[in-house]
Amino acid sequence: SLESAIRRGGASASSSRRFSSDSAPERKVAILGAAGGIGQPLSLLMKLNPLVSSLALYDIAGTPGVAADVSHINTRAEVVGYAGDEQLGKALDDSDVVIIPAGVPRKPGMTRDDLFNINAGIVKSLCTAISKYCPNAVVTMISNPVNSTVPIASEVFKKAGTYDERKLFGVTTLDVVRAKTFYAGKAKVPVAGVNVPVVGGHAGITILPLFSQATPASNDLSDDDIEALTKRTQDGGTEVVEAKAGKGSATLSMAYAGAIFADACLKGLNGVPDIVECSFVQSSITELPFFASKVRLGKNGLEEVLGLGPLSDYEKEGLEKLKPELKASIEKGIKFAQEN
Ligand code: NAD
Ligand code: LMR
Repeated sequence: SLESAIRRGGASASSSRRFSSDSAPERKVAILGAAGGIGQPLSLLMKLNPLVSSLALYDIAGTPGVAADVSHINTRAEVVGYAGDEQLGKALDDSDVVIIPAGVPRKPGMTRDDLFNINAGIVKSLCTAISKYCPNAVVTMISNPVNSTVPIASEVFKKAGTYDERKLFGVTTLDVVRAKTFYAGKAKVPVAGVNVPVVGGHAGITILPLFSQATPASNDLSDDDIEALTKRTQDGGTEVVEAKAGKGSATLSMAYAGAIFADACLKGLNGVPDIVECSFVQSSITELPFFASKVRLGKNGLEEVLGLGPLSDYEKEGLEKLKPELKASIEKGIKFAQEN
């Protein structure tokens, strides 16, 4: 796995791991926005992933340098950099997984929705190209506001006649990563064994961590502790935006989270059983058309949207509170894609 590859030092892998990775199927991954704050460390992490045989790094500029740099790492993936519109088709051609971290990040004082005006157009044009060059690829959307960019992508694909709801994912893995870290700290349990589902969406109160389902369970946490953990998870992005003081938002932890989710998609495509992650997908587990929850990944992408499971009263309340905002963000994305 990616995690064990990193732990083992990637290139210093044993010959047995090299054998098993060479026998893994060929998989092409394209990263759109690969020269950016997320894109660069994500390119590094995907180069370390033994499931990747071909890595296409696309951005409007700067990708030849990023590609030359990571291509020297002695791991399986063949790396090629593509820059500018005229090379987007080649970057996407035959991709199995397309990861999209293209777009502007927040500055202090901004909400994710404040990014809509710029990022909606970027996502729309990239998804139009995906529908043309790799309509069967699994698309993992990092660009914010995720609550709107995923609906935009779905509408673009519908218009092009290529929409497959099993192939479109909003990446909410960073919310899970944060919830695990914060929970482990508060519950004083080893973080490596912690699991916490996070549902809803990816902005403020639409991020709903389900600490009542956290494992290992903790009896030591008060209601106040749970509320504090919930708020910190919901405001995790803002915590980083403020600490970076104008220099952008989470990039390194996001690259990690994006790499974990892409690795899960690749494992699913390769037929590894029981791959479950949280993601913002087309869903019917609530009345909203898109919703983040645990999902099972498989050979066709999304195999199953898993239910919410039992919720505490606090979580039930949070669920009802988030619905109007999430609904509005979804509708805003759909309207944009239909009108533009
Ligand atoms: P960044 O500005 O450092 O990098 C963005 C990159 O996108 C730049 O290299 C830019 O050239 C590129 N880009 C712009 N338009 C493009 C286009 N049309 N085609 C290809 N590339 C294009 O920003 P960042 O910090 O990497 O953040 C990127 C996005 O990810 C932001 O929207 C941010 O809000 C979002 N984000 C999401 C999560 C999440 O959990 N889903 C977490 C962190 C950041
Ligand atoms: C995050 O959660 O870190 C990202 O969505 C970036 C942001 O703007 O907070």
